[in-house]
Amino acid sequence: MSNIIAKLDNVTMRYGDKVILQNCSLDVVEGAITCIIGLSGAGKSTILRLLNGLRKPDEGHVYVKGVDICHMPETKLINFRSAIGFAFQFAALFDSMTIGENVSLPLREHSKMSEEEIEKTARATLESVGLEQTFNSMPSELSGGMIKRAGFARAVVTNPDIVLYDEPTTGLDPIVTHLLTDTIKRLRAQLNGTAVVISHDLQSIYMMADYIGMIFEGAIIAYGTVDELKKSMNPIVQQFLQGSEVGPIPL
Ligand SMILES: Nc1ncnc2c1ncn2[C@@H]1O[C@H](COP(=O)(O)OP(=O)(O)O)[C@@H](O)[C@H]1O
Ligand SMILES: [Mg+2]
Repeated sequence: MSNIIAKLDNVTMRYGDKVILQNCSLDVVEGAITCIIGLSGAGKSTILRLLNGLRKPDEGHVYVKGVDICHMPETKLINFRSAIGFAFQFAALFDSMTIGENVSLPLREHSKMSEEEIEKTARATLESVGLEQTFNSMPSELSGGMIKRAGFARAVVTNPDIVLYDEPTTGLDPIVTHLLTDTIKRLRAQLNGTAVVISHDLQSIYMMADYIGMIFEGAIIAYGTVDELKKSMNPIVQQFLQGSEVGPIPL
């Protein structure tokens, strides 16, 4: 039996009077990579924001490690977030800090490590994403793919139980995409943790996903392993996976 480490339970979420998620449920299996697919604007990033408590649902519940985080006061949420790494879509590194300082930041905020320990941990984490030589570099000196990996390093440096990746490969070439996908898989294994990855890149998803959830019109309409989704009889899933203009998805 697989353990569920995080869960959206019948979540409804609105921005103003626009309904983004409606009765949306998703189980995140511990120790697995779960990929979320769906059209642009479908609510994928919103799901990640709910999972780390940046947003609260209008209805329903969000559980992480058995705790309903919707009712957690902000002071507690701050501590709780150190158990969740977030690799943002646009790496969001601070331009005025070195890569080493950027990666050290979560340790300064969330741990009581000494300066020495912080540097050692940040260097080891950079090494695990293949960026050991960039400790003293500025973000502007790095390529797009390296920036992404530095963002991954920052997301995992606190050794979180769950790492959330928002479109880690969007806009990057196939070789960098392959490298980043490989890095996500390696970090998942190394942390012995769980990952939730939003991606549009089917090649990359097929390479890393243990489970795929497809969001459509506010809810997860299909969920399963790569093989199960590829064999799905749902015409929406088939149209999306085949990238076809023909089918039930309104264009
Ligand atoms: N802070 C916000 N205020 C208002 N609308 C928002 C906000 N964030 C996202 N949205 C809208 O919610 C929908 C879902 O957004 P998002 O979760 O970012 O989608 P995705 O990541 O799947 O592209 C989009 O239509 C977007 O325009
Ligand atoms: Mg998004």
